[in-house]
Amino acid sequence: MADTQNSGFDTVCLHGGHTPESNRAHLTPIYASSTYTFDSAEQAISMFKGEEKGYIYGRWGNPTISEAEEKIALLEAYGIKDNDGLPLQLKAILHASGMAAICTMLLGNIKAGQKIITHYSLYGGTHELVEKILPDMGIGYVLVDFHDPAKVEAAVKADSSIALMHIETPANPTLQCLDLEALSALGKRYGLVVCVDNTFATPYLQQPFRYDVDYVMHSTTKFLNGHGTAIGGILIGRDLVKMNKSLTKMHRLLGGNSNAFDAFLLTNGLRTFGLRMERHCSNALKVAEYLEQHPMVAHVNYLGLASHPDAAVAKKQMKHPGAMLSFELKGGFEAGIQFIDNLKLCTSAVSLGTCDTLISHPASTTHVGVPREERITFGITDGLIRMSVGIENVEDIIKDLEGALKSP
Ligand SMILES: Cc1ncc(COP(=O)(O)O)c(C=O)c1O
Repeated sequence: MADTQNSGFDTVCLHGGHTPESNRAHLTPIYASSTYTFDSAEQAISMFKGEEKGYIYGRWGNPTISEAEEKIALLEAYGIKDNDGLPLQLKAILHASGMAAICTMLLGNIKAGQKIITHYSLYGGTHELVEKILPDMGIGYVLVDFHDPAKVEAAVKADSSIALMHIETPANPTLQCLDLEALSALGKRYGLVVCVDNTFATPYLQQPFRYDVDYVMHSTTKFLNGHGTAIGGILIGRDLVKMNKSLTKMHRLLGGNSNAFDAFLLTNGLRTFGLRMERHCSNALKVAEYLEQHPMVAHVNYLGLASHPDAAVAKKQMKHPGAMLSFELKGGFEAGIQFIDNLKLCTSAVSLGTCDTLISHPASTTHVGVPREERITFGITDGLIRMSVGIENVEDIIKDLEGALKSP
């Protein structure tokens, strides 16, 4: 097995988490088996008692799933030392979706009567879960502007039922970028569990465990898979006892487990993860600079442009400013529709993080049901276009944008 503790990041992407397989298959196969056999009744007893390690039942684990989990845990811990100066050990649990991972994390750490403190501009699904589902279970929430640590501290001091801080940075869809070092330190000072949604940045660009957070979660559907072939989510934690006991139990009983086929696709995507991220980010910067000077574009929202209000925070904690950007067309809603219809190379679709460029017009798609005034207060204006910049040759992406920005 490769010595991934002393290897480069891209080597870990390729070899991390791989266990040689008994039939000498080069890649870990898709273990399409819902259950696993015992050699004897004694073995069954010792496996159920946890004395002997091994796979028992598909909802509890599977070798194809384990490889993806171990690889992502190694990538999130890459280069980080624990308090004893040893390589940080993390445990990851793969889920059926990012939402399933967040449910395990929240329900495994917070009880009725307690509250979550989080910020405006979260991924819509997380926001709805916190606002509409959890309150009926007695779990409340406090929303604060996380750009202002003084406000966060005042809110935490004022309410002793706040038990967990959830941070999404950069946030979907506004690209708001939050100071992980300051927020995590504040959360720890008040004994909160701190979780970071690292979907937009990925461990290639940002490692929240450097700031002592308790959990990181991802929608692996996005950059980690990278090819748009499977929905998935992962929860990674630093308290190995808790991860192996209460959170594993929560995961198994809520039933949001992944499956071998999706895990295989994820592992396969991760093999080129570092290379993809470099290209995603260098393309995104060039696209942002192109759009910024275009006469039909009112404003470009990209963390790598000096005009972005959070550019300094991004520079401090991210290796590159990422592959996501949005821009505002001067012509409003009609211009947005026309632009999407004019595209020939870039794909009109929601989601993000696939190796090809995805573009969406939120006002006519994801936010079509939200009253106009309301969506504008969230920053979803009529002519806003969101772009997940892919790894095509950047001249081709820019040529497509150039053509789509011309009148019909
Ligand atoms: C930041 C973020 N977190 C979580 C999710 C939920 O992930 P999934 O769709 O895989 O359940 C998404 C989905 O877009 C997201 O963008």
